[in-house]
Amino acid sequence: MRPLSLRASGIDEHRIKAAPNHALLTGDGDPGTAVWTYNGTVPGPVLRLRQGDPARIVIENGLDEDTTVHCHGIRLPNTMDGVPGLTQPPIKPGESFVYEFTPPDAGTFWYHPHADSLVQLGRGLAGALVVEEREPLSVDRDFLWMLQDWRLTKDGQIAPGFGNMMDAAMSGRVGNIVTVNGAPAAEQPARAGERVRLRLANGSLARIMALRFEGHRPVVIAVDGQPCDPHEPEGGRLVLAPAMRTDIVLDMQGDPGKRYAVIDDFYDGLAYALATFAYDAGPPLRAHPLDAPLGLPRNPLPEPDLAKAERQEIVLQGGMMGGGKLTGVGGMMGMATPGMNGMAAWAINGMSMTGDGHSGMAPLFTLKRGATCHLTMRNETAWWHPMHVHGFSMKLLSRNGAPVPHRQWQDTVLLAPKDTIECAFVADNPGDWMLHCHVADHQMAGLMTVFRVT
Ligand code: C2O
Ligand code: CU
Ligand code: CU
Repeated sequence: MRPLSLRASGIDEHRIKAAPNHALLTGDGDPGTAVWTYNGTVPGPVLRLRQGDPARIVIENGLDEDTTVHCHGIRLPNTMDGVPGLTQPPIKPGESFVYEFTPPDAGTFWYHPHADSLVQLGRGLAGALVVEEREPLSVDRDFLWMLQDWRLTKDGQIAPGFGNMMDAAMSGRVGNIVTVNGAPAAEQPARAGERVRLRLANGSLARIMALRFEGHRPVVIAVDGQPCDPHEPEGGRLVLAPAMRTDIVLDMQGDPGKRYAVIDDFYDGLAYALATFAYDAGPPLRAHPLDAPLGLPRNPLPEPDLAKAERQEIVLQGGMMGGGKLTGVGGMMGMATPGMNGMAAWAINGMSMTGDGHSGMAPLFTLKRGATCHLTMRNETAWWHPMHVHGFSMKLLSRNGAPVPHRQWQDTVLLAPKDTIECAFVADNPGDWMLHCHVADHQMAGLMTVFRVT
């Protein structure tokens, strides 16, 4: 295999091949689970780019179906966004596509397919993408956990049944094993007294996580790659929905030789240990926590002008209610693609766009380049939805009428049942952009739309 990164002619080049392989997701059972991989591994290699430096990512399709790669959260030119039909032709088996862009923002991002998304992501195609700051944060270690949820059969293979109506119209395909960087219940070595930066990315199809760090107090320094005012998460519980990233700083103040679990307890009665910090027995690295600033430099995001903003509202509708009935999706314009298992189960403003993105998707609204969009998202359903916008980061204004603190910008915003979120962004990037729920089943079954910036 060719080296991952060639730094020739000032362009940071990475070569990635999507292809089937096996992975030891459950820790045993050679040869393991049949998965789809980037460069042979699950998750794919961590792509490291540098803020403001041109990058080139060459994707080769070694699968026997079409694919594309979407660099989630990166503000890049529309033609590099990886949405088949909408921003590029799909990459056919045996073919390649060259993605070129200069990342304007430093932070934690990720890459994944945007074709047959439910199946391709569910079979393992995902990797982290780190855009390095010009000046690294002062920490002893910087590491990343790519979290992936899998639905496996008893013999450790990926369960069939992608896109069935139960998953599609309810919580999505939540699995039965969660891996950290491709391995189950990871053990993370730690040293007393050190300060670490931990980048968390939820690459799951549907599983929402809420992490508690036994004996530790995480400080959130960035959400979805965008620095925020450093703060401890509410109740010490870090909620991470599919596609979301959170960077935290941890002062490792546990006792040498001890072990501390990281617990995910999002779903009632289904708490489990995601990982364990295993302290070595050596003396603390330093007596007191490091006295260095925690804040990251802000990225160059354009500031919304709320006084002159154009207001748009999207309403999330559908899903299963009591009695097994679908609500609110009657009579909308279906755009079901052939080959979809299910039909539309969700809608945005009465309209269901299903699948992964394709040509001929009429935009729900059009924004003038440079205008501020004040976007309200209203969840009328009984389900949770991490709503994701391509091409932009949104400044969070309010949740259910209360201001959102810590100056947070996100590309993926989790809406609880019946939540209303207000956010704003400057439409400075022309093109047709997707806005969809990142629970892959929901997106495929209609919780998706497109808007245009001209
Ligand atoms: Cu990560 Cu269209 O999404
Ligand atoms: Cu995206
Ligand atoms: Cu959803």
